[in-house]
Amino acid sequence: MPESVTITDNRTGQSIEDPIVEGGVSAAEWAKLLPGIWFYDPGFSATAECESAITYIDGEAGVLEYRGYPIEELAEHSTYLEVAYLLLKGELPNQAQLSSFTSDVTTHTFIHENVKRFLEGFHYDAHPMGMLVSEVAALSTFYPEAKHIDDPAVRMDQILRLIAKMPTLAAATHRFSSGKPFVYPDDTLSFAENFLSMMWKTSEPHFQADPALVRAIDLLFILHADHEQNCSTTTMRVVGSAQADPYSACAAACAALYGPLHGGANEAVLRMLTSIGDISEVPAFVQAVKEGKGRLQGFGHRVYKNYDPRAKIIRKAAYDVFEVVGKNPLLDIALKLEETALADEYFISRRLYPNVDFYSGLIYQAMGFPVEMFTVLFAIPRTAGWMAHWNEMLESKQKIARPRQLYSGSPTRAYVPIEARDAE
Ligand code: ACO
Repeated sequence: MPESVTITDNRTGQSIEDPIVEGGVSAAEWAKLLPGIWFYDPGFSATAECESAITYIDGEAGVLEYRGYPIEELAEHSTYLEVAYLLLKGELPNQAQLSSFTSDVTTHTFIHENVKRFLEGFHYDAHPMGMLVSEVAALSTFYPEAKHIDDPAVRMDQILRLIAKMPTLAAATHRFSSGKPFVYPDDTLSFAENFLSMMWKTSEPHFQADPALVRAIDLLFILHADHEQNCSTTTMRVVGSAQADPYSACAAACAALYGPLHGGANEAVLRMLTSIGDISEVPAFVQAVKEGKGRLQGFGHRVYKNYDPRAKIIRKAAYDVFEVVGKNPLLDIALKLEETALADEYFISRRLYPNVDFYSGLIYQAMGFPVEMFTVLFAIPRTAGWMAHWNEMLESKQKIARPRQLYSGSPTRAYVPIEARDAE
């Protein structure tokens, strides 16, 4: 028998049967029975905003899959560009498809010289994420054809551009912040190597990154590439549903990622570990969190009620990086914090586990990235996910996002002239 729920309006006694399809019930049926009665769900905790075939998460079991492939297998065997292809096109590429996709991305890595010029208008201590949001938005003015969102070929051009230019824009914010000359992309390097070259190259003719660090960056890019309907991806889809061009929608997604409850959390983790300062302070810090004095950054997740599978992979990868660059002194505090929290009733009962951000910042810092760059490092790979969702949303001809509200303001009242208003 097909599964369903029955909804009864107790005011009228009328009922409808709503079938459960793919784990959801249709709001259209609800609306037929209850016109003008809205499903109240702040933060969309219980709302499926769309149907998507890109990423699967089972938060209870700690499972994450891109297009059906477990994240652990992709992390072990794949590369970021292969994963970006998978997210966008639904299948892993064969050798010819991967070569062609890699070459397409590689030929789009350069940015217009004017982008460099307006970067120079930022204040010397501008946050790189603030600069990135502005740079991405500005790209829409360089590619006016991007407005033709109904044309799949035009869409694919912008997708390639955004994936390819993100590392260039990201590195440019760092070079500007540190007063160093901008480094042009090197098309002979892989995606991750090229990014490291644009970040760190000085006077050497050809930058050579340590292969272990290149692999670590590529791995982190794979792990951050998509995470279904998170805050920034939802933003991408919502802004995209108004048929805004992809650069404007992507800038909005970057802005959402900038928030400390989302992509800004890895920066917050590092600041938290630094402020704790010493292992001996961990119990007092955890006690303060339990008393409501702040949150344990990098812990908890709206969907995962188990160890975030990405955190497990990153925790392991951290040791490979530390072998090359030396151990991050904050690691011991992080490990003690995790051990203390995972044994504490407060965190156990709320099912709060380390999320992707708990260990990623430690790797980034050990590799020499300034803390302000952490969220930028998240935005680079997440662009593949944002683009895959944007494309999927447009292909499905989704309606403009326009939720309802429960109005709780004043009832209708007459305008009061200013001289008749209460002085207080
Ligand atoms: N530290 C301490 N307590 C916490 C934490 C935390 N990190 N996270 C949740 N809680 C507590 C809440 O206080 C609440 O307790 P209560 O029931 O006694 O009031 C309970 O756990 C449920 O928390 P909510 O805020 O309802 O959970 P929500 O799903 O809305 O929030 C979020 C998820 C935002 C990730 C939250 O866990 C958090 O703030 N974590 C810290 C920031 C962070 O690491 N963000 C990165 C998320 S991953 C990503 O975006 C890439």
